[in-house]
Formats: sequence, structure tokens, C-alpha cells
Amino acid sequence: MIDKEFYGPWAVIAGGSEGVGASFADQLAEAGINLLLIARKPGPLEETAEAVRKHGVEVRTLAQDLLADDAIENISKAVADVEVGLMIFNAGANSYGHEFVTGDLDGFRGVVKLNIDRQLELSHVFGAPMRERGRGGIMLLGSMAGYLGAEHQSIYAASKAFSRIFAEGLWLELKEHGVHVLELVLGVTRTPAMARAGLNFDIPGMVVWEPEDVARQGLEQLPNGPVYIVGGDTSAAEARSGYPRDKMVEGAAAAMRKLMGR
Ligand SMILES: NC(=O)c1ccc[n+]([C@@H]2O[C@H](COP(=O)([O-])OP(=O)(O)OC[C@H]3O[C@@H](n4cnc5c(N)ncnc54)[C@H](OP(=O)(O)O)[C@@H]3O)[C@@H](O)[C@H]2O)c1
Repeated sequence: MIDKEFYGPWAVIAGGSEGVGASFADQLAEAGINLLLIARKPGPLEETAEAVRKHGVEVRTLAQDLLADDAIENISKAVADVEVGLMIFNAGANSYGHEFVTGDLDGFRGVVKLNIDRQLELSHVFGAPMRERGRGGIMLLGSMAGYLGAEHQSIYAASKAFSRIFAEGLWLELKEHGVHVLELVLGVTRTPAMARAGLNFDIPGMVVWEPEDVARQGLEQLPNGPVYIVGGDTSAAEARSGYPRDKMVEGAAAAMRKLMGR
């Protein structure tokens, strides 16, 4: 179980109401860590908060769109009086997918703002005091999509590549100060967001992870950064990192079309 003396007494989960975020909340609360949960929809947010309070910890909620201009200020205010030892940046499934040149630039800007800007800002806000204290953790949620370019989600894939490389640099800088950084790379995971997006979870042979397993592995692997691929099998990531790029990018695109039923 995660060490509350090292990662507590408070954790902030950006995207803490559903799916993997809700499982992180449950497992951290079980370990005795108090929580600030952030998400847009107040209903699932309150439900998750209520459910994890059964572990006897204090749980605050902030119904906040991370894209709003005042998001970082509001988050900082919500935990200004407590010590945050863990920040998990979970929100970040693709919010706008389209062929790039015919797509809406503002839609793409939203993906960049959530998956890059907000991730950097929260890592900065919470990482600096962790560095001072010489303990704590930052977990960023990555994707297998971040290992190669993809059609209709080129910006999402690129943002996840950014996240992974950023996590590696942050890990390098903070490890000597006793702070753990992990990019937790997910494969297909049965979350409400993916179900709403119409993902076909029933393709024969496809591995589908459950949010509880993903969260458990992430928390276990937090001291072992900079990158952990859920399930521990690095072969798919290695295969996507090689050359020639044209064959790899086209092959992955064909698999993705099948997954999305296109
Ligand atoms: N599920 C998969 O198969 C899969 C695969 C690879 C990587 N991942 C990564 O895993 C993470 C979690 O994915 P997910 O499938 O659970 O979907 P998600 O849409 O990222 O939702 C996760 C949480 O974030 C919140 N959220 C989303 N956008 C937000 C915003 N703009 N402001 C505030 N809160 C926001 C959601 O609540 P609200 O909707 O109420 O705001 C929910 O609590 C993401 O980073 C994703 O890229 C997932």
C-alpha cells in the first residue's frame, strides 16, 4: 500500500471523478491520504467523494473545467491551507479529434491546453514545494498513442509524447531531491469516457484493462519512474519506437480503425 507519510497528507487528482481517477481516489483514501478531487460534472464528482469518504479521510471536491482561465488559481486556493504530497494528472482523454488541416484549430488548442499547459502548470505549482520538502510524487497519465503519429488524433498523440518526454526530464531533475515522477502509460482501459466515445472493448484478442488494476499498478510503480507501461510489457512500445516509421505509423493506424469500428 502507498506510504501516506511520503505521499500525504493530501493528494490532488485532476480528473478524479470517474474511471482510473476514481480508482486512484479510492486506493489513496484507503491508504489514509486526504484528497482534492477535480472534474467538470458535479454529479459523479460528489458520488466518488462520498464513496471514498468511507475510508475515513477528508475529501474536498472542486467542480472545475481545467480549461477555464482561473482553473489553476482555483485549484491552488482549494488546497492553500494543506500540504499536498501527491499530484496525479489524470484528465486528458482526447477531447477533440479530426483530420488536422480541415479541423477546428480551437478544438486542437483545447487538447494542447489540457494535456500540455495544465499538466505543466500543476506540476509546477505542486512540484516546487515537494522539492523543498524532499518528498512526494507526481504522476502523469500517458498513452500508447504517444509512441507514434495517428490520424484524427494527431494532436492527442503528440500531446502524450510530450507528456512522456516531459516526465522523463522532470524525473531526472526531481529524483535527487527525493521526489518521485512517473508517466503511467495506459493501453485500452474500460473507463466511462471511452465507453461514451464508442470504443469497441470486445475485439477478440484485445487486452482491456480495468481502472482499479491500472490505478493499483500506477501507485505501486510511482517510485520506479520515469515511465511504466500498464501490464509491464514494453514490447509494444519498443515496436512503435523503431524504424521504418512509415510502416509503423500505417500499421498502427489500421489497428486503430478496427478499434474504432471505422
Ligand atoms: N481509457 C483509455 O482507454 C485510455 C487509454 C490511454 C490513455 N488514457 C489516459 O488516461 C487518462 C484518463 O482517461 P479516461 O478514459 O478516464 O478519460 P478522461 O476524459 O480523461 O476522464 C478522466 C477524468 O477527468 C475529468 N476531466 C476530463 N476533462 C476535464 C476537464 N477539461 N476539466 C476537468 N476535469 C476533466 C473527467 O470528469 P468530467 O468529464 O466530469 O470532467 C474524469 O473524472 C487520460 O489522460 C487518457 O489520455 C486512457
